[in-house]
Amino acid sequence: MIEPQWMGPRVRTVYFWCLMSPTVGKPPKFYFLETYGCQMNEYDSSLVSGLLEERGYRPTQDLSLADLILVNTCSVREKAETTALEKLRSIAHHKRRRPGVRLGVLGCMAENKRETILERIPEVDLLLGPDHYDRLGEVLDRPRSLAMPISALGPDRNQTYEGLFPSASANVSAFVAIQRGCDFKCAYCIVPTTRGPERSRPSEDILREVHHLVGKGVVEITLLGQTVNAWRADLSFADLLRRLGQVDGLKRIRFTSPHPRYFTESVCQAMAEVPTVCPHVHMPVQSGSTAVLRAMRRQYTRDQYLTIVSRIRRHLPTAAITTDIIAGFPGETELDHRDTLSMMDAVRFDASFMFAYSPRPGTPAADLPETIDAAQKQARLQEIIDLQMRHTFQRLDEQMGSNTEILLEGPNRREPKEWFGKTPQFHKVVVRPEHPCVAGQILPVRIAARRGQVLWGQA
Ligand code: 5AD
Ligand code: SF4
Repeated sequence: MIEPQWMGPRVRTVYFWCLMSPTVGKPPKFYFLETYGCQMNEYDSSLVSGLLEERGYRPTQDLSLADLILVNTCSVREKAETTALEKLRSIAHHKRRRPGVRLGVLGCMAENKRETILERIPEVDLLLGPDHYDRLGEVLDRPRSLAMPISALGPDRNQTYEGLFPSASANVSAFVAIQRGCDFKCAYCIVPTTRGPERSRPSEDILREVHHLVGKGVVEITLLGQTVNAWRADLSFADLLRRLGQVDGLKRIRFTSPHPRYFTESVCQAMAEVPTVCPHVHMPVQSGSTAVLRAMRRQYTRDQYLTIVSRIRRHLPTAAITTDIIAGFPGETELDHRDTLSMMDAVRFDASFMFAYSPRPGTPAADLPETIDAAQKQARLQEIIDLQMRHTFQRLDEQMGSNTEILLEGPNRREPKEWFGKTPQFHKVVVRPEHPCVAGQILPVRIAARRGQVLWGQA
């Protein structure tokens, strides 16, 4: 038998797969998939991986091995689009040397920026919007002689990818999309355009996927949806949480991102009632000014948001609350900005994702004149970031001396005696366990110190 050592990397991998593959003699194809943007994109990428792996494709991190290169893109802010275009440009350069390779663009930019992409990167062979990933196989089977590029775009209001599961996760934690699209029309947001109207996946299909994941060793799931608590199919969202709470082997349930309008008493009650639902609520506020919230078309006022926060705290006194904030929305005055800071003081969020407003062509806000310049916008964002850091440190310091449980994710690669884990509130903890342990295990710890944004626990 030939020793594989003398072969080059590609030949060696193909040789290995020829031995391993059930279709011996037929070398498998390799795909490279890069993902930008939100958790929904990460989830979609694992759906795409699942589809490709069913067709015999194998993943690779090495561009030079790939027969198929896919980039899953994000349009939520201009920066995300620029980064993906730069990546596509460098891949196109690589493709010119290997013309047999196929290059595909997936996700929100395929939907939103088709013309720009094809004009700037003519090497692109296919564009698939978020509702068309199940057509990937059919597209790949088409003979090369057919005209390129191929595109499948536009929202499909029936698409929930029912029956399709993501590629097997090697992690203890996995995402499960329960809803696609969004029916809100927040003035700054491109998502309703790129991902189409809201659809809820049937509970049976969700439960099948969760059981499948638990069977593969997953112990924590995060339910995903643009307005995840607006999910409603054959059950209410609260009852879905209760059903998931009965799944054997599932240790933790999270969800993101809920919309304040749907954070009802019954959702809070279900969270308090089901021990595996984690006391962490990531509830985007976007602004603390009622006038800006109205201009953003968020459908709640500052006072209503604060009432919902009190409701959450009443049912879940130990819950962590995190948020998203946008600085410098068109028309935002200095007073509005102060309202955002005072809102942050009132809630003391555990953490926030904070963004400078980025106009998205095609959204209602893109037609509004920007009333502050880039430097002022950045200065407001910096004030928000500084205040959030103070609150984050205060919140973490309040944990000092408390007993909690962390879900172990894995050892520190540089210091294998140290393990990373998360509290139910999603705080990151480092610990040096006294006994051998495994990822996915729940470990009781006492919080002993804080370094930056990381807590240190004693096992
Ligand atoms: N500019 C800045 N931030 C935005 N977000 C969505 N659209 C924009 C935009 N045009 C932020 C919101 C949302 C998060 C996912 O991204 O805060 O909650
Ligand atoms: Fe965008 Fe608003 Fe829908 Fe969230 S709720 S995805 S911010 S439109």
